[in-house]
Amino acid sequence: KRVVVFISGGGSNMLSLADACEDPGFPAEIVAVISDKPQAGGLAKAEARGIQTLAFERKSYAGKAEHEAAILAALSDIQPDIICLAGYMRLISGEFISRYEGRMLNIHPSILPLFPGLHTHQRALDAGMRVAGCTVHFVTEGMDEGPIVAQDCVPVHIDDTPDTLAARVLTVEHRLYPEALALLATGGVSLKAGRAKFDPEG
Ligand code: GRF
Repeated sequence: KRVVVFISGGGSNMLSLADACEDPGFPAEIVAVISDKPQAGGLAKAEARGIQTLAFERKSYAGKAEHEAAILAALSDIQPDIICLAGYMRLISGEFISRYEGRMLNIHPSILPLFPGLHTHQRALDAGMRVAGCTVHFVTEGMDEGPIVAQDCVPVHIDDTPDTLAARVLTVEHRLYPEALALLATGGVSLKAGRAKFDPEG
């Protein structure tokens, strides 16, 4: 399966997906990395691996619609089977998502539905959580609320700060996202009537 990864920053999740795709037996290949930030550190890392990169700086476009139209035009040339959002810090319109319904994943650094949105680790600590974690979900119009594909958790240590907890969760993200992508790429999960359907034969 042809995968395009969207990033806005360092792209550590994109790199873990790229590492997984380097295994010839892995059921997906990253054909491009797209960012809304031309300076995103992940773009240079992708290029160093020979992956095509494209940057669409938001302020270069009149509005959200024009920005998304430019990205969609590039995607229609690339023809990805799957889009993986990985540290992509921009909400995508329902119209855009509908083009890739059931073929677009996102990773979020909390055990959804707990803590959608930002500052998830600080909020988990403030809530006194004893576990934290991450979720890979289908992207739907609402933010961080699509049907869940995969989750995993880590213990919260009593001396954790948001940064120490984020680092522990990120390690799990880097394992979880490739697993979730492989599940989607092999038909082990699909989006049916707004729910994630798992196929044991998948
Ligand atoms: C990660 O916590 C990810 O879950 C969130 O953004 C953070 C940075 O991701 N979406 P990356 O290092 O840019 O992949």
